[in-house]
Amino acid sequence: KRHLISAADLTRDDALLILDTAEEMARVANRPIKKLPTLRGRTVVNLFFEDSTRTRISFEAAAKRLSADVINFSAKGSSVSKGESLKDTALTLEAMGADAVVIRHHASGAPHRLATSGWINGSVVNAGDGTHEHPTQALLDAFTMRRHLAGAPDGGPTRHQDGPGDGTGRDLAGRRITIVGDVLHSRVARSNVHLLGTLGAHVTLVAPPTLLPIGVETWPCDVSYDLDSVLAKSDAVMMLRVQNERMNAAFFPTEREYARRYGLDATRMAALPEHAIVMHPGPMNRGMEITAEVADSDRCTAVEQVGNGVSVRMAVLYLLLGGNEPALSENRTEEN
Ligand code: CP
Repeated sequence: KRHLISAADLTRDDALLILDTAEEMARVANRPIKKLPTLRGRTVVNLFFEDSTRTRISFEAAAKRLSADVINFSAKGSSVSKGESLKDTALTLEAMGADAVVIRHHASGAPHRLATSGWINGSVVNAGDGTHEHPTQALLDAFTMRRHLAGAPDGGPTRHQDGPGDGTGRDLAGRRITIVGDVLHSRVARSNVHLLGTLGAHVTLVAPPTLLPIGVETWPCDVSYDLDSVLAKSDAVMMLRVQNERMNAAFFPTEREYARRYGLDATRMAALPEHAIVMHPGPMNRGMEITAEVADSDRCTAVEQVGNGVSVRMAVLYLLLGGNEPALSENRTEEN
């Protein structure tokens, strides 16, 4: 594949290849010299039309660890603020020889437009488009779940190894994942529903009716309005950020009411099975969808997810741009 636009485009084999490659990249990160020469001479452009901390920094770290040249473009402070179009911005990047463009955009469909327009020749990676998709977030979430719930191929930390699965620890078959909150505006939820289904997990969305998208009943998952009824059956519970910046006030209960019905606090966390993990893609609204006590507890993987994001994004860039290079070997680092 040349581009990564949607988690829905990934077959099970594609997803497992990315996750297995990310495990190899994570091993590189544990070496004294963390850099690989794989993408030396290639240029990766981070094209961010919307704010980001985790995604932008981790794509930059991932590209640099693969020895690519990195150009960071933020719409703020660029000629976009003078009215320059996506097309003219893309043509400018193409003139600079971009081999991959990592794009975050407030408009759903912008990465697809870039990939199919002919404006650029390089690979396009969707780093979050509007309320549509955020495929690398779903991949890093699956990577994190696999390490905790399925048993990592390298024997990484595992809380729960005796459940169903494909017997190899490579997928999430039979795992029960609960995704809670502002599903309406969440590209993270959409990408996770696609990817987790592909990996065999059973997903339940929990949200107020006003924060569920039209047509959710056709998604490959269950829907509930009652968080307390699903906690005891969850292997992982993923709390979504309430996206106040995209919110129509008419959709939203009061903050206190939201926290009472859909927030994860210590009492609710205690209802989870002992092996279950608490996830959050960040940034968090502490005190709203998650209490500080839960966010800072050792069951919450939010910080670990950020670290895993670098390995997953290294894997994606490697497979899109350097897939014909020899496979990673134990001795192949920038050092030699
Ligand atoms: N999870 C996520 O996409 O975070 P950022 O918006 O900080 O990139």
